[in-house]
Amino acid sequence: MKRDSLASAASGLDRLLRKLGRVSDEEACLTRTFLSPAMGRANRLVGAWMQEAGLDVREDAFGNLIGRIEAHKPGARTLILGSHLDTVRDAGRFDGALGVLLPIIVLRRLRREGVRLPFAVEVVGFSEEEGVRFSSAYLGSKGYAGAMRAADLGLRDENGISVRECLQEWSGRRDAWKTPGRAHSRRELLGYLEVHIEQGPVLEEHGLACGVVSAIAGQTRARVEFAGRAGHAGTTPMALRRDALAGAAEFIVVSEMLAKMRPPLVATVGRLEVRPGAANVIAGGAELSLDIRHPADGDRREALRMLRSAADRVAHKRGLKVSFQVVQDNPSVACSPGLTGLLAESVRSRQGKLLLLPSGAGHDGVVLSSLVPVAMLFVRCRGGVSHNPEEHVGKGDLAASIEVVGDFLIRLARRNTE
Ligand code: GLV
Ligand code: MN
Ligand code: MN
Repeated sequence: MKRDSLASAASGLDRLLRKLGRVSDEEACLTRTFLSPAMGRANRLVGAWMQEAGLDVREDAFGNLIGRIEAHKPGARTLILGSHLDTVRDAGRFDGALGVLLPIIVLRRLRREGVRLPFAVEVVGFSEEEGVRFSSAYLGSKGYAGAMRAADLGLRDENGISVRECLQEWSGRRDAWKTPGRAHSRRELLGYLEVHIEQGPVLEEHGLACGVVSAIAGQTRARVEFAGRAGHAGTTPMALRRDALAGAAEFIVVSEMLAKMRPPLVATVGRLEVRPGAANVIAGGAELSLDIRHPADGDRREALRMLRSAADRVAHKRGLKVSFQVVQDNPSVACSPGLTGLLAESVRSRQGKLLLLPSGAGHDGVVLSSLVPVAMLFVRCRGGVSHNPEEHVGKGDLAASIEVVGDFLIRLARRNTE
């Protein structure tokens, strides 16, 4: 591909990322959660870009945005390219969005160059990956892969709205989400490729624009609730208190200590809700989110057992009740050797060096891996910063990843016509 047109494709991608980065549920920052008004606007905007690039666009009953180009041969299998269009609160503009917008740019370039692929391509913007609204991640890819379960549908957001109710309102047809099953059967699919920012500093340390993911770490999320007794902050002696927030605080410190003692275990409490939440009232209730990850599933499960016991110990000592509910549990996922090998060839041919690296972050590929071979391309991000408005990918690295993905599609096309 010519360098000058590659640079203009990278600038075009950068422009789309900036535009999409302004589609937010909050005025002051980027926040776009599952089936929110901003998600509706994002789907319309990205859907229009897909159409301009020659894709047929639809939205499924789970709010996933799907753009498709048929193969020139009937009955050919489908390659899925995608990532998520939801974000964390006060997000950067690359996490998820890059993996949806970059394939659109690549497919537009191939079309202009007259390249016709022997397989169908589906670009998917999954509606939920971050787990912000319902504390449980991957609702979009679960819907797409036919893996949504009753437990997922029953989850409630902070306003008490369930996933089921939310889907009914979104689709406008009460049961639209009930029977869609999976979008494709296994044998119709060729693979899934996700392009994502690395969200860590390894590529930057090695001076590389792109890397290939070997595996995605396992992850457990739980909702932990301490219940004590609300009371007067001025009149209740310290010895007679059952302070739910103090219990939660002790548990948070214990989980941090446990993770520090057992690297590469990571444990995060990112959300804490206190009831009733007033300066002069002892907290009667405190609910927190717990997220733990480890590349080895056995170590993650052991940490989960230890944290459950720690929550019981803290509650017992302080006269509190505790409930510990696991809301998400995903084993680690190895990427497909076949597709990953091909992607590695593309990376090597672009930058000479190949770096294989594991992902500590979760990705839609975790759910897709139950249906189809998965490969992931990581793109360097400045300082390894992510889940933060400072997220940044330089235009040179956007160009490199556009070139790698284009090359990968051509290699895959060659392999599939042989
Ligand atoms: C998604 O970004 C996650 O790993 O939490
Ligand atoms: Mn992501
Ligand atoms: Mn993320």
